[in-house]
Amino acid sequence: MNDKTVQIDPKALRQALGAFTTGVTIITTRSPTGEPVGITANSFSSVSLDPPLVLWSLARTAHSLGSFSQSSHWNVHVLSMEQEDLSNRFAKAGENKFAGLELDTGISDSPLLTNCSARFQCKKAFEYDGGDHIIFVGEVLGFDKSDRPPIAYASGNYAIPTKKTNTKLSNSTTQYSSPYSEDLLGYLLGRAHYQMLARMRVVYTKYGIDESDFFIISTLMIRSQLNLQDLNKYLHYIGDVNKDNLMKLSQLGLVQNINDLFSLTSEGIVAGREFVKAANQVEAHLSENIGETDTLAMKSLLKRVILATDPGLPPLWDE
Ligand SMILES: Cc1cc2nc3c(=O)[nH]c(=O)nc-3n(C[C@H](O)[C@H](O)[C@H](O)COP(=O)(O)O)c2cc1C
Repeated sequence: MNDKTVQIDPKALRQALGAFTTGVTIITTRSPTGEPVGITANSFSSVSLDPPLVLWSLARTAHSLGSFSQSSHWNVHVLSMEQEDLSNRFAKAGENKFAGLELDTGISDSPLLTNCSARFQCKKAFEYDGGDHIIFVGEVLGFDKSDRPPIAYASGNYAIPTKKTNTKLSNSTTQYSSPYSEDLLGYLLGRAHYQMLARMRVVYTKYGIDESDFFIISTLMIRSQLNLQDLNKYLHYIGDVNKDNLMKLSQLGLVQNINDLFSLTSEGIVAGREFVKAANQVEAHLSENIGETDTLAMKSLLKRVILATDPGLPPLWDE
């Protein structure tokens, strides 16, 4: 430490450190009396391959400090994208963090959690003073890795680590100087929509219907017995649905009108199911191409786009 007194704003420092994106781990051990102990930690880092060493740091204020200080072994679990709730559970000081959790048998008696992206079973090698934290260095005695994509932590939020691409769709070097470039979000979203749904169009055109009709049938799959006004509330995003649209669907035998309430006929239900099957195939095909994690990342971003541009549509799936 040097003699100069530097004023550091802890909140600003924490925010700046949050720019360093990490994974999320749960680190477990046993208390001297044999109780399972664990905490969520993103201070985990690899140190050395030969010998195999990893480290992490624990706040001196943590309830688990006594247990980790006295224990000779601990396990590091790199959490998967499905384990956000588990991360939150182990980030709270509490007695019952392990309630209902399935455990594997490991090298030591430290609890070994399941369904993680990777696990490292460690023997404590060193313990260092780290200011308001203690730094634990462990030797890796055993490890395993699954295909479950890991969850990330960036600037205080859980995140999905997705592959960044610098791919350009066309070869032009001057493309971004024009305001209408291939980088325009509207263009990307529009083109992705039509390209991705090309297979869907093949399915619904078989029934003699167009994209608006397809959206009407999809909505009636979830909400039955809707009047025109309510149908329009759910479908605000495609523009006005009018009586002519419904008349056409009724002539095709897909929709029925009973007292101005519209629902699918049995044929309409069959068609709707075929659309859902095709939509799942489209998704599976895309996922095969860009990967499961990037598909999830795309869904997460699209939900944010939908919420950010929502004019106030009623929720389609909620009761
Ligand atoms: C994403 C995330 C990362 C965290 N990383 C650490 C860490 O590296 N070290 C630490 O001491 N606490 C960390 N915490 C906070 C602890 O998980 C939290 O204080 C927990 O309650 C400690 O449990 P205990 O008091 O039962 O020991 C983190 C919390 C979250 C949500």
